[in-house]
Amino acid sequence: MKNPAARAAAFPRSEIRVLFDRAAAREGAIRLEVGEPSFKTPDHIVEAAAEAARAGHTGYGPNGGLAGLRELLSHKIARVDGFTAPPENIVVTPGGMNALFSCFLALLDPGDEVLIPTPGFPNLDHIVRLLGGRPVFYPLSAADGFLPDPDRLASLVTGRTSMLFVNTPANPTGAVYPAGLMQNLVELCDRSDLWLLSDEVYDELILDEDAVHTSAARYDTAGRVITVYSFSKVYAMTGWRVGYAAAPGPVAGLLSKLQEPQVSCPSTISQKAAEAALLGPREPIRAMLDAYRRRRRAALAAASEAGLSFVAPAGTMYMLVRVETGGRSMIRFALDLLDDHGVSVAPGSVFGPGGEGYVRISLAADDLRIVEGLHRLAAAVRVGS
Ligand SMILES: Cc1ncc(COP(=O)(O)O)c(C=O)c1O
Repeated sequence: MKNPAARAAAFPRSEIRVLFDRAAAREGAIRLEVGEPSFKTPDHIVEAAAEAARAGHTGYGPNGGLAGLRELLSHKIARVDGFTAPPENIVVTPGGMNALFSCFLALLDPGDEVLIPTPGFPNLDHIVRLLGGRPVFYPLSAADGFLPDPDRLASLVTGRTSMLFVNTPANPTGAVYPAGLMQNLVELCDRSDLWLLSDEVYDELILDEDAVHTSAARYDTAGRVITVYSFSKVYAMTGWRVGYAAAPGPVAGLLSKLQEPQVSCPSTISQKAAEAALLGPREPIRAMLDAYRRRRRAALAAASEAGLSFVAPAGTMYMLVRVETGGRSMIRFALDLLDDHGVSVAPGSVFGPGGEGYVRISLAADDLRIVEGLHRLAAAVRVGS
């Protein structure tokens, strides 16, 4: 019997999925581990997709996405992300995830090093490894508000470093990188001749009204910044799988070309839904944002009242809470929390070595369940310590 590819066999199963499956099997569990918005896709988007399907928009589309959608995305990027990206520099993909994968596929040679934040979005180091690259973690600490220090980053650059990956607003920390920092990071990449891949899929989920999202692309003068966005979280459209990258012309051409052997093109019906999302009323989107902001306030109050240690998130739909595991591994702690207290959280270890000692709670649950979940978490931490 032939063996499967070594890279596939070596690939670990996501711990968050282990927890997800256990939590799903436990009736009444308070589910704070998920990154799935608690809202359904707004009705006008669903209707527009059904209408598009009936009207015959059911075939293959261009590799890089429908021209009409890319035109609308160019306006969205100018309005929300504050830079100019002509439609031909935008490539629509099946989710932000595929945009990220395609960027690494386009830009990484085997052996290349990629600077990746920890705690950070877990899928990244897996993608880099799958493609033969080497993830090099840069640690983020609560004391610095989980913001990277450009000087420390510079000290990690070697002759093999090919790319700096950043994520703002950041999963799981909720940090929103200030404009000055974004500029410094682009300048660092200029000095060291690195690609800068900036994951900005939470660009419109700013929870702290004083925080402002700043795109890395605003400071790109050398054609080295690629930004990635998604309809998943902002429009509650995770299952539709629509994301996109904005890239300098030559990179956008590669990304578009690489769609053919991977997926041919993103779903045409989903792209019609995305067009409706951009053209339709803003109120349903505003209402979801208001709910996340309200839940954040409730979570901060409950966590303070329960004596938990945390860093208030400025954006995204997550919050990291510090826990003392009493010597248990993070996943063991999370499974015990679920079994003994009926609350599921994402163990920090899934976010790389910098996630040790934290759990991530999601603001996708309703306010009362978030508050109850945090109280139970505090009780578990007290018992465990
Ligand atoms: C930081 C970050 N980037 C990218 C994604 C991918 O999202 P999607 O593929 O649904 O667009 C996620 C999803 O959780 C995320 O948290």
